[in-house]
Amino acid sequence: MLVDVHAHLDDKAFEPDRDEVVQKIKETGMLVINAGSDLGTSRFSLELSQKYDFIYACVGVHPHEAAKIPENYLEVLYRMSKEKKVVAIGEVGLDYYYDFSDKDTQKRVFMEQLALAKELDLPVVVHDREAHQDTLKILQESGVKKGLMHCYSGSYELVGEFMKLGFYFSFGGTITFKNAKRPKEVVSKLPLDKILLETDCPYLTPEPYRGKRNDPTKVEIIAQALAELRGISKEEVEKITTANAQRLFKFAKPI
Ligand code: NI
Repeated sequence: MLVDVHAHLDDKAFEPDRDEVVQKIKETGMLVINAGSDLGTSRFSLELSQKYDFIYACVGVHPHEAAKIPENYLEVLYRMSKEKKVVAIGEVGLDYYYDFSDKDTQKRVFMEQLALAKELDLPVVVHDREAHQDTLKILQESGVKKGLMHCYSGSYELVGEFMKLGFYFSFGGTITFKNAKRPKEVVSKLPLDKILLETDCPYLTPEPYRGKRNDPTKVEIIAQALAELRGISKEEVEKITTANAQRLFKFAKPI
C-alpha cells in the first residue's frame, strides 16, 4: 500500500470530478494526506478526512497566503488540529521565489505555526522554495523535533542539518523529470528510511503525463521512479516509504 503524503484535493482543478478521483484512490487501496494552504483549504482537508477513512489532513497556512489571513488564525488552526484525523501542521514555510507575501510576514507566520506544532506535539510539513538557509535557521530555533521537507529541492549538503532536527524528505514528479538533476541526486543518496512519496497534485505531474492534471494515484509512478534510481524493487519502495510515513504521521488506524 502506497501513501501520497502531500496532495491538494481541495484544489479547484478537482471541482468537476472530485468524487470520481476519490473513488479511484479508494480502488487502489492507498492513503492520502491532504495539505491545507489557508483556513478554508485546511477546513476542506479536515472535512475530506472525516468523510473518507483513507484520507488524512494537515492544517496550516502556506507562505503565499501569509499576508492574507485573519488575526485569530492560530486559534482556528488550534481547534481544527484537535480533530482525530489531523496528522500534521502544514503546509507552512517560506517561498522567496514567488514572494506573494513579504518576507517578514512569511517568517512570522511560519514561526507562529511552528510554535503551535511544538505545543501540540505534531509534525510540520514544510514548503521551502529558494529559502533554504532561512528555513533551516527558523526550524533550528523553533524547537520542533519532527517534520517533513515536502518536495525537497535543497542541496544534499543541507540534508544532514534537517535530519538532525528529525526531518524526513518527500519527493514527487520532479524525480521523473529529465532535467531535474538535484532532486534526483538527493533522492539517490538519502537514507531510505528518510524518504516519503508525494504527488503535490494537481501540480508537478510525473512523466509521461507532464502538463496534465496530477492526482494521488500517480504516486505509483513516483514509486517506480524511486525504485529505478535506487536499484530496488517497487515493492520494497512501497514497504519502506509507507513505514516511514507511519512513523512520522502516526496514522490513527494501523496500516
Ligand atoms: Ni503543496
